[in-house]
Amino acid sequence: MARITLRAERFGTEATEAEYGGLEGGDIFYFPESPPLISDDDRAFLVTQKQIDASYHKNVSYRPHEDRLKGVDQEDPAQRARVHGILRNYSRRAIAFMATLLNRYAADWKIDYASFRPIEEQGRRVSLHSRNDLLHFDNFPNRPSHGDRLLRIFTNIHPDRERVWVTTDPFEELAGQFADRVGLNRPEGLLESGKHLSARVAARLGLPVVDRPPYDRFMLRIHHAMKEDAEFQESCRKDRWEFPAGSSWVVFTDGTSHACLSGQYMLEQTFIVRRSSLVFPEKAPIAVLERLAGHPLAQSA
Ligand SMILES: [Fe+2]
Repeated sequence: MARITLRAERFGTEATEAEYGGLEGGDIFYFPESPPLISDDDRAFLVTQKQIDASYHKNVSYRPHEDRLKGVDQEDPAQRARVHGILRNYSRRAIAFMATLLNRYAADWKIDYASFRPIEEQGRRVSLHSRNDLLHFDNFPNRPSHGDRLLRIFTNIHPDRERVWVTTDPFEELAGQFADRVGLNRPEGLLESGKHLSARVAARLGLPVVDRPPYDRFMLRIHHAMKEDAEFQESCRKDRWEFPAGSSWVVFTDGTSHACLSGQYMLEQTFIVRRSSLVFPEKAPIAVLERLAGHPLAQSA
């Protein structure tokens, strides 16, 4: 995988076919100078924000459809309103920027949450499965994607420090490596447990449970299996990427392995890209897992 550098003259232009292909195959779009997604004043304000309970509030989230802010420790209503306004603006600008750059996805994508991550990543004490500094692919336990893809734009708003990532081998290689452990190539891997069947029945009745198709269950198992494997984390091949203060980057985080080693103060907006919008649907994690399993693992939601 590679980092595809896009400079300011490319803002306002759509990705080329080759760039779409690179992104869908695991490359990172990198903007050394971020597109204008936040003002200098707002950035200066956000980096003064302290979160009280760092272990609980991994991030501050913003839900664009509800215009709702969650996870802010800030008690002062005026300060809270300012954080809300900044996230609303970031989210709107990020959506507009991405709708031009990746126009073919935009007609049919789902806009997911934006977030602000004020905590230093290095040395954060959280549970193993929540650790960001271990290599993983993203999967949202409470928001199954049904095989659609998770696309994110990140902006490092720290005044002077870089955000450091490592990545490893492509999804296809790792899925093959972990297939046995997660039951992907056993017929019973597909069988629904009683728990999942009752979740499906409850979901149909409109009860608040998550109906997770086999695809999302396998993705979550792969996520956990990778983080639980200390030998793999230690010895796998690694590429190191530094994203300096003031830069942005775009990546399909369900198909590009990543671990964040250090960095503080980041903004991010997530998009759910439909399988049917992809240039190369055969590169999507669901296509890879279905090839390994030999049968379908989800229907597009
Ligand atoms: Fe992640």
